[in-house]
Amino acid sequence: MKHIIPVASGKGGVGKTVLSANIGTSLARSGKTVILIDLDLGGSNLHTFLGIKNSFPGIGSIIYREEPSLESVLIKTDIPKLFFIPGDSLLPGTANLNYFTKLKLIKAIKKLNADYIILDLASGSSFNTIDFFLISPSGLIITVPEATAVLNAYSFLKSALFRLLYRSFPPKSAERIKIINMLSKHIEGTNISLRNLTEVLSSGNAESGRIVNSVIKNFAPRLILNMNKSDRDSKVAEKLIEIVHKNLNINLNLIGIAAKSDAVPLSIIKRKPLCISCPEDVFSRSIKVITDKLILK
Ligand SMILES: Nc1ncnc2c1ncn2[C@@H]1O[C@H](COP(=O)(O)OP(=O)(O)OP(=O)(O)O)[C@@H](O)[C@H]1O
Ligand SMILES: [Mg+2]
Repeated sequence: MKHIIPVASGKGGVGKTVLSANIGTSLARSGKTVILIDLDLGGSNLHTFLGIKNSFPGIGSIIYREEPSLESVLIKTDIPKLFFIPGDSLLPGTANLNYFTKLKLIKAIKKLNADYIILDLASGSSFNTIDFFLISPSGLIITVPEATAVLNAYSFLKSALFRLLYRSFPPKSAERIKIINMLSKHIEGTNISLRNLTEVLSSGNAESGRIVNSVIKNFAPRLILNMNKSDRDSKVAEKLIEIVHKNLNINLNLIGIAAKSDAVPLSIIKRKPLCISCPEDVFSRSIKVITDKLILK
């Protein structure tokens, strides 16, 4: 079975690319075919983490129609079964993809053939990032224990859920209008929660209620807490899961906790995923646990 795993975060610099590179490598080492795609358009740097030169065409070349398909820009890496599609670092200026190009890209990603397709995304809640994240109902959201990162992870999930609900109804529908009205009321500053939105959308129209409930039920993002230093840090993940459930009615699953390790920045300088150069490191061991869990699910 094919698994597409988008990797997102609310705040930048929390380890999406390090985790994508190491999880991808570790899955390939476990015998799975993996394609890593650099979808951080405007900030592509996954090649650096894999020790691959910045001289290959990638997503940028497809957007500018210099290459015909994703398959034509797929690169073999040094690691058996691990393949890579570069981002736009050769041809920048693609960060603001237009709607139809984005849809074409999403369609092409879904058609790729591999056991795991991992999408390293840009940070933040732009529509492009959210739409890439929503390619799968169970994308990975990364945070670190700091309050700002956790709050941004919450905001990202909220934006993703609203977008998912919005997209579930036809253009110009009454439901879409209600969703926009609700958003413009600045939910954070009031007591209005997503639970209220569900009620508003369900009222008077049982079918809309059913759609909303099924969208929420099928949305099951997974959380990784990165740069963990202590048990106290890991409590932060529990708190986030609790608040996401309470306010957004989403079941966020904690798939793993990745330890903070001084060896991680060094591995980036050496341009080799840590799980290969030092499998005994505390971070590499966390990656192995996460990978085993991903394979089980
Ligand atoms: N577990 C860890 N232990 C120590 N350092 C880490 C760990 N994870 C990430 N880092 C460091 O954090 C920095 C940011 O990591 P990375 O580039 O993967 O984040 P990102 O979320 O992809 O950032 P961006 O939003 O800019 O794409 C890197 O310098 C990396 O060395
Ligand atoms: Mg990154």
